[in-house]
Amino acid sequence: MEKVTSLAKRRGFIFQGSEIYGGYQGFWDYGPLGVELKNNIKKEWWKSMVYGREDVVGMDAAIIMNPQVWEASGHLKAFSDPLVECKICHKRFKSDDETVIKNHEKEHGDKSDWTEPKQFNTLTEVFLGTTEPKEKAYLRGEITQGVFVNFKNVVDSTRVKIPFGIAQIGKAFRNEITPGNLTFRSREFEQMELEYFVKPDEKDSEKTFEDFKKIRIGWYESLGIKKAKLRFHDHEPEKRAHYARYATDIEYEAPFGWSEFEGIHHRGDFDLKNHGLKYRDEMTGEEFVPWVIETSGGVDRALLFFLIDSYSEDGERIVLKLNPRLAPYKVAVFPLLKNKPELVEKARGIYKDLKEKFNIVWDDRGNIGKRYFAQDEIGTPWCVTVDFQSLDDDTVTVRDRDSAKQVRIAIDKLPEYFQNGLK
Ligand code: GAP
Repeated sequence: MEKVTSLAKRRGFIFQGSEIYGGYQGFWDYGPLGVELKNNIKKEWWKSMVYGREDVVGMDAAIIMNPQVWEASGHLKAFSDPLVECKICHKRFKSDDETVIKNHEKEHGDKSDWTEPKQFNTLTEVFLGTTEPKEKAYLRGEITQGVFVNFKNVVDSTRVKIPFGIAQIGKAFRNEITPGNLTFRSREFEQMELEYFVKPDEKDSEKTFEDFKKIRIGWYESLGIKKAKLRFHDHEPEKRAHYARYATDIEYEAPFGWSEFEGIHHRGDFDLKNHGLKYRDEMTGEEFVPWVIETSGGVDRALLFFLIDSYSEDGERIVLKLNPRLAPYKVAVFPLLKNKPELVEKARGIYKDLKEKFNIVWDDRGNIGKRYFAQDEIGTPWCVTVDFQSLDDDTVTVRDRDSAKQVRIAIDKLPEYFQNGLK
């Protein structure tokens, strides 16, 4: 974890939020490489969950909604954590966070004096308006409600028919008491969710739930996460969210233990019923409140686990074995020698051509070995080197990140070569 944290900062994936002011607990900034990795994760998710299906449309709702939404959705009442307060220093912790509590007790020389657990709401309040009293609203605690309150708008404005889904990616906010493990538990984070609406039928909806479990775990595997590091964990009834009939988490075996990074929930008719929404089947005239199967992934947690899972060391060499589709840069282009204008000119030409098609990077610092080392560490799948032979026969060497093997390829075949590698 320490190594990944240090790499994330050193190479510009993840920075502490407001770092020059001492940081701000639970907030993180993504640097030049982090934003690319994050965008690639979201792009792949959208490709699989929206473009790859005929029965899903996307949307993008506002972060702040009429506060009545949170009343109806049950979040004002039930979106809470049980907290205990240390009577010695008045710090608060989640009462079920045993390790954190034990560590805190050590700070007081193993003395402990705790209050009884009390429920604290995790919605983040904001105050709007220019005159007092200002209007209290909330930053959304899950992106989901924006989809539900637009259910009728989507049905009326598109040709969707049940079963169908609405997909969304966006920021959510939670007043987490104990943020930690880099971005794992943050107060501002991003979710990628599908709300899939089905007929209210116990057996059919269970099958949809099982189908989405397979689709979602398969997606992480297809992008390279090791199978052995993934598992499902069904929610015990007492741990279920207030809206869930039943639920399971996809967990990753992180250095800090098995940890949830996507939830699959059978939400039944909880949300649409509370918002007073229904669906009318135009063919049969039948009216009903659809049931919802939800897949809710965390973009930041996925990114963290893609980084952890792809981190590997080979002697001195650090390699991020990211799937090429996720890698921030697809290709790095170098002239063999920086002080030979004919090599630089040829390499610049290749760089400019490839840059129109892929996100690539130019590197002419230090020697070739150092450049390979630097690109391996940020997960660039291929390095192109222009050498003296390139001037004679219009070929270059392409070095593969994972095998470190090199092949010679004609310059005009490079786009096709990389395109194939990105499939
Ligand atoms: N709409 C359902 C929902 O929000 P959830 O299980 O509370 O369900 C879904 O959250 C996902 O959002 C989690 O699996 C996790 O990946 C991400 N997430 C939740 N809280 C988070 C936090 N404090 N920091 C980072 N990611 C978080």
